[in-house]
Amino acid sequence: MDAPDLRGRTILVTGANAGIGYWCVEKLASRGARVLLGCRSAERAATAVAAVQGHVPDADLRVLPLDLGSLDGIARAASAVDESIDAVICNAGVKAATPEARTTDGLDLMVGTNFLGHLALIAQLDPMLAADARVVAVGSLAHRFAALDPARITAPWRGSSLRQYGRSKAALMAFAFELDRRWSGTGRSALCAHPGYAVDPLTAERPGLVTGSRLMRALAVPTRVIVQGKDDGARPIVHAATATDAASGDYWGPGGLLEFRGAPTRVVASDAVRSPATGAALWSAAEAATGVRFAS
Ligand SMILES: NC(=O)c1ccc[n+]([C@@H]2O[C@H](COP(=O)([O-])OP(=O)(O)OC[C@H]3O[C@@H](n4cnc5c(N)ncnc54)[C@H](OP(=O)(O)O)[C@@H]3O)[C@@H](O)[C@H]2O)c1
Repeated sequence: MDAPDLRGRTILVTGANAGIGYWCVEKLASRGARVLLGCRSAERAATAVAAVQGHVPDADLRVLPLDLGSLDGIARAASAVDESIDAVICNAGVKAATPEARTTDGLDLMVGTNFLGHLALIAQLDPMLAADARVVAVGSLAHRFAALDPARITAPWRGSSLRQYGRSKAALMAFAFELDRRWSGTGRSALCAHPGYAVDPLTAERPGLVTGSRLMRALAVPTRVIVQGKDDGARPIVHAATATDAASGDYWGPGGLLEFRGAPTRVVASDAVRSPATGAALWSAAEAATGVRFAS
C-alpha cells in the first residue's frame, strides 16, 4: 500500500464528524496531515475531534463550520479558509430523502447537498487550493442506478429514494471527471473514489460515534465476508487523496467481490459519468442552479 508521510499537507474532509468521513480524518491525521473537518454541527465536530485525539494525540485538526445544504453557509465556510489546501475530500452525503426534502435554498436535498453543495464549495475554495491540489469526489456503486440528464438535474423526482441518491452521486462523479478535464495541464487533479458497502456495526468503535448496539455488532460479524466497516471503507478514498499512484481522472474503490469490500484498486465508472458532453452540460446547469461560477 502506497502510504506517504503527510506532514506539511492540509486536507479538508466534508462530513468529517461521522462514518467514512471520520475515518478519513483519523487515517490522514495518523500520517501527519493537518486536517480541516467540514461539519455542520459544532457539537458533533467536537466529539469527532476528541475521538481522533484519543488515537492520534498529536493530531493537527481544525473544525470548519460547513453546511452543504446552504449556499450561504458554503460561501461563509469557503471565505473562512485562510490557508492553502492540498486536498479536498467531498464526502458529506445524504443517503435517503423524500422528494419534498429541500436544502435551505429550495434545492432537492440529495442533489443539492451531495452534488451542488460540493460544486459550490470547490468553486469558492479555488483561490485557496494549492497548485497541485487534489479533489476527491466520494461516489458510489449507486451511480449506475439512475440516468443522468443534466437538463433535469434540479427537476422534481418521483419513485425510489435510492434512484435519486444514485443520481446525486452520478452527478458528483461527473463533476469530478469534468474538473479533471478542465484542470488538465494545471498541476491540479480531480478523482473519484467509493467505499464499497460500508456499515456501522462492522466499524471499530470510537467514543461518541455511532457504530450500533452490541447485538447489532454481533449479528453483523458473519457479513464481514461480503461487506466491511466504515474504517475500511475510507481506505480507497484516502488512497485517492494521497497516494502517488493515484492520478487525475482515476476512480478508486475496494477490490473485492462486487467492489463491496477489500483493498483499494482502480475500478470502472459508468460511461455516463465520464461523458464530456454530460459533464459540460451538468457544469452549466449547476452554475445556473447555484449562481456560483468557477473562476477558471
Ligand atoms: N456507507 C456506504 O456503504 C457508502 C457507499 C457508497 C457511498 N457512500 C458515500 O460515502 C459518504 C459517507 O457515507 P457514510 O456512510 O459515512 O454516511 P454517514 O455515516 O451518514 O455520514 C454522513 C456525513 O455527511 C454529513 N452531512 C450530511 N449532510 C450534510 C450537510 N448538509 N452539511 C455538512 N455535512 C453533512 C453528516 O453530518 P451530520 O452528522 O451533521 O448529519 C455526516 O458527517 C457519503 O457521501 C455516501 O454517499 C457510502
